[in-house]
Amino acid sequence: MRGVMLVGGFGTRLRPLTITTPKPMLPIVNIPLLELELLHLKQYGVDEVILSSGYLPDVFDEYFGDGSRLGMKLIHVTEDEPLGTCGAVKNVERFLGDDTVIVCNGDILTDLDIAALFSYHMEKKATVTITLTPVEDPTAYGLVPLHPDGRIKEFLEKPSWDQVVTNLINAGTYVIDPKVFQQVPPNQNYSFERELFPSLLEQGVPMYGFPSDCYWLDLGTPAKYLKAHHDIMERKIKIPLKGKEIFEMVFAGDDVVIDETARINPPCALGDRVRIGPRASVGSLCCLGDDVVVEAGASIEGSVILDGANIGEDCVIEGSIVGKNTKLGKRVHVAEASVLGDNIVAEEDNEFRHGVRIWPSTRIEAGKIRFYRTD
Ligand code: GDD
Ligand code: MG
Repeated sequence: MRGVMLVGGFGTRLRPLTITTPKPMLPIVNIPLLELELLHLKQYGVDEVILSSGYLPDVFDEYFGDGSRLGMKLIHVTEDEPLGTCGAVKNVERFLGDDTVIVCNGDILTDLDIAALFSYHMEKKATVTITLTPVEDPTAYGLVPLHPDGRIKEFLEKPSWDQVVTNLINAGTYVIDPKVFQQVPPNQNYSFERELFPSLLEQGVPMYGFPSDCYWLDLGTPAKYLKAHHDIMERKIKIPLKGKEIFEMVFAGDDVVIDETARINPPCALGDRVRIGPRASVGSLCCLGDDVVVEAGASIEGSVILDGANIGEDCVIEGSIVGKNTKLGKRVHVAEASVLGDNIVAEEDNEFRHGVRIWPSTRIEAGKIRFYRTD
């Protein structure tokens, strides 16, 4: 079965992480999100996937190549200019064939039952079926109210609160009869949510919503990036954790060295060659990438530390994200969903709070950043 994965977005709300890495390639418990998404599709027999990219396209190609490592066939197509969600699929129409295809937003972590979705699509004799998921705040999404028989009533993309008539939103996974792409203008920015779907509805084409209570999270923001890690480690979604379970719910890759005076609080995931120094404390709910070094006395909780980062002596990292190869001097404090990009050097006694975001490759001299409380 064929699928299209939309991976062309800029991931703006996840900057600075997405300045150096496109959002679908950000690691989730040390595996790129897109790899988890592709393996999820493959599990249901979708083994030929067209990746529609635009922003930092080479990163996808270099990591996945032709897909053979995953036992899949991947076709990479890159846009010169963003063509929008539907324009992007029109642009790869020549690879689709005549059979029903699945189209997925590339920024979603889910365990959706794709077999049940296809059965529903067939049973309803639908032309388009849109997976729906309940959320607390639908205003950041596409609202999709249904008739009692499951037919879609209307599309309200990014509605205001007074338009919110249901908590079911477009979950970003569609099953589509590719014939509909004949009516999409080529080489033009065109949206599923604002253009093709409302237009098909007006034409009376059978379009159904498939409400699902599966695990669903879009990786829009740093808070959600952290939540994805926490949810996986708390087993709210069953993604296999890499490495060996060295004790209950602590997973470690190869050649990990943990000082005997260090404390690891589960759940935790440690990449290959992680080194944890004396009296350091790591966890709970921490994920450390490959080659991360945690120096003596440092403490890390509820955080994600990406590959090659170095956490200096007596640092404190709480509910935050530290980018690849970033080096922190002694006593640096990172807290409150702050995000440090890749390749930063923050010398000793700096403090990052209140969700501050530091751009990649910045150098910060000792003691330059402090937060003073005025209350
Ligand atoms: N190739 C390509 N070209 N891909 C694109 C483009 C483009 O021009 N624009 C967006 N994408 C990709 C993004 O990379 C992402 O994976 C997906 O299409 C959706 O785009 P977002 O920018 O993340 O949209 P959104 O999150 O605001 O809203 C969409 O997703 C929601 C669910 O998370 C809509 O489909 C909403 O209706 C939906 O509720
Ligand atoms: Mg999105």
